[in-house]
Amino acid sequence: MRILIVYNYDFSKVLFRHPKQTKEIYPIETINKIADALKIKGHYVETADGNLEIINRLKNFFSRGKGIVFNLSYGIQGEDRYAHIPSILEMLGVPYTGSSPEGHTLALDKAVAKIIFRYYSIPTPDFQVFSSSDQDFSNIKFPAIVKPLKEALSLGITVVRNVDELKKAVSRITEEFHQDAIVEKFIRGREFSVGIIGNDEDLETLPVLEFDFGGDPDAIQTTYLKRHKPIKKICPADIPEETAKRMQYLTKRAFHVLGLRDYARADIRMDLDGNIYILEINSQASLVEKGSFVTAAKKAGYSYEDLMEKIIKTAIKRYPCLSEA
Ligand SMILES: Nc1ncnc2c1ncn2[C@@H]1O[C@H](COP(=O)(O)OP(=O)(O)O)[C@@H](O)[C@H]1O
Ligand SMILES: [Mg+2]
Repeated sequence: MRILIVYNYDFSKVLFRHPKQTKEIYPIETINKIADALKIKGHYVETADGNLEIINRLKNFFSRGKGIVFNLSYGIQGEDRYAHIPSILEMLGVPYTGSSPEGHTLALDKAVAKIIFRYYSIPTPDFQVFSSSDQDFSNIKFPAIVKPLKEALSLGITVVRNVDELKKAVSRITEEFHQDAIVEKFIRGREFSVGIIGNDEDLETLPVLEFDFGGDPDAIQTTYLKRHKPIKKICPADIPEETAKRMQYLTKRAFHVLGLRDYARADIRMDLDGNIYILEINSQASLVEKGSFVTAAKKAGYSYEDLMEKIIKTAIKRYPCLSEA
């Protein structure tokens, strides 16, 4: 198959600069590693930066033959950033891996995703959304956790114990991240993630992975830890089989109700009474080699190359024009 990997790297190639710049960037080593993995599997691979020049790159690549985009773009700037490249690809009729613009947009907005989870009885912590630190915070119970509505990597996240801390955290999010804040009930306990690959009847959940906080129920994954000091991962997690099955079932439900495609990863907390909550589902789950998705896939028997091949095959199946070729 001819594969064009599209990602975002050079943020300068835009017409105008938006105040809301994307802070989540795929390491270039991972882009190269994915390209190498796909080449090992026998594919023809090129890479392209998803900026002002992307339409010409797509025109050039696809005028030379059929193929598919491996979409690893987090966006450059502005609103609903995960949806930007997929929207261009939809408009041009180009096949691509991963979720649709709608799926990415619903998953990236933590409140919208949680409203949908609630509608479908998927447990998720209680929450409220605030756009200013002047609002009425009287129904918030402490401790609470405050997050930007549409970020990743734990950016802008603070655990707060009183109204003063809460107000500061909300101000920081509106000023620094140019977005609303979601304030959520803090779930003391353990943390897990569940990866998922496939679609419809071929949907596979990966073994449950636990982040080893050394038994501290108040620990969370901070940006610093995620970027520089990854927390030890235990996979498969040391939990009863029925608990693992329930986490995998809830991940499947979350994937379905947001209409996600091909692959994703749910972040889960379990409280001290054993109740399970879906925090979010990442529609653009990181494919970094040491990340939780790839680690769990390895436990399920996928080498890095096999995993990339599986994602491509899963996406190709959705495009009859490609699978017949
Ligand atoms: N309600 C919560 N209770 C306890 N910890 C939480 C809660 N929400 C988030 N966290 C902690 O913050 C981290 C990041 O939150 P998450 O909702 O996954 O956002 P992000 O998109 O930044 O990954 C989680 O991995 C977890 O450690
Ligand atoms: Mg997360």
